[in-house]
Amino acid sequence: MINWRYDVLTNFEFYNVDTVKLAEKYGTPLYVISEDHIVNKCKEIQEDFIKKYTNVRAVYASKAFLNKEMCRIIDREGLGIDVVSGGELYVALQAGFPMEKVIFHGNNKSIKELEMAVDNRVGRIVVDNFYELDLLNSITMEKEKKVEILFRVTPGVDSHTHEYISTGQIDSKFGIPISDNMIYDAASRTTDMKYVEFKGFHFHVGSQLLENTSHLMALETLVTIMKSTEEDLGLETKELNVGGGFGIYYSNGDDPKPLKYFTDAIMEALIDACEKNNLLVPEVIIEPGRWIIGEAGITLYSIGSIKEIPNVRTYVGVDGGMPDNPRTALYQARYEAVIANKIYEEKTDTVTIAGKCCESGDILIWDLNVPKLSHGDILAVKSTGAYNYSMASNYNKIPRPAVVMIKDGKDRLTVRRETYEDLIARNL
Ligand code: LLP
Repeated sequence: MINWRYDVLTNFEFYNVDTVKLAEKYGTPLYVISEDHIVNKCKEIQEDFIKKYTNVRAVYASKAFLNKEMCRIIDREGLGIDVVSGGELYVALQAGFPMEKVIFHGNNKSIKELEMAVDNRVGRIVVDNFYELDLLNSITMEKEKKVEILFRVTPGVDSHTHEYISTGQIDSKFGIPISDNMIYDAASRTTDMKYVEFKGFHFHVGSQLLENTSHLMALETLVTIMKSTEEDLGLETKELNVGGGFGIYYSNGDDPKPLKYFTDAIMEALIDACEKNNLLVPEVIIEPGRWIIGEAGITLYSIGSIKEIPNVRTYVGVDGGMPDNPRTALYQARYEAVIANKIYEEKTDTVTIAGKCCESGDILIWDLNVPKLSHGDILAVKSTGAYNYSMASNYNKIPRPAVVMIKDGKDRLTVRRETYEDLIARNL
């Protein structure tokens, strides 16, 4: 359950913290992340997945939200981390995150990134293509260091989600397609590689999925692949990474499911299929990102201009927008929001929340019901924890907001607000 409270105080409380006071203390726009929420999600993973099944693991997909503090929380909660670039790996390294619990993804890892992964002995590298496999072979030969790999498979599954976050279909830039024996070829090449050890397969079918069907369809394909690699090449699949993608609540109409709705179905189907095919059940890894962090975050903005176009609409300008949350512009994402200092007031107006960029598409929320607004009111947009801070930009040279974490009713800064000096810090 998300801890949104409207009852006792006059202001909107998020996990027992008065959001208006946060806005006063740290300024706006402001990302507010509840550590309590993250911890609850990690506990759910522990209870309903890790303790329930033998031989399973969970890693947090750090692309959803990453800073050093997040690495420390994830480590304390006993999960691993997946990274998708040298930069994400660097943050994990700097936070002292155990490298054996890191999984390295990416569809075009550079030589430098692969060397960094090999040098730091990351737990697994998920190989996306033949070029990468060859690079990894030469890097490991040169360094005489071993790596354990999974192959990313494109299982040929269309997911019910926005096309930009659907990744399992045949026509995808990710992974090795299931056609033309390509997976078989990739796996067979590893048998001659001295330092590259095949451990198994990975797939990720898409993101913000509210049904488990895509995962189950992909699983069926994967079991067939596991069987042929074992029978024809003698390569046992010891690990199967089924990706992330478990959806969350953003707005009316979203019906997110508990983790076990996905994981129980995946485990049952896999155990059953392995039994039928005479295969040992591999270790199963999940990689939720959004599901852990999405609802843990809100963003606070101050309301500035209020522009009423008679008989058309009212645009309400806030002090952030697509630089701190590009998701509405990119994926037509829908958000809910409240006026944090007016939660008891009757909602009489319908307005459109506009960001401050020079872009007509810089709209955060279309048609939001609100009470009578004044300049300086605080808008709290919900479910902004995932892919907001991590996708933030400096478009129009707008400094990125600070990130405040809250826990047990107390707040602490985990990323300071960018300054104008930061904007030119690397200019020569
Ligand atoms: N594993 C792999 C290999 C992935 O590519 C992703 C997400 C995940 C795990 C985590 O997916 P999640 O559990 O967070 O759905 N920027 C987009 C989302 C892109 C997701 C990319 N891959 C958005 O804002 O919706």
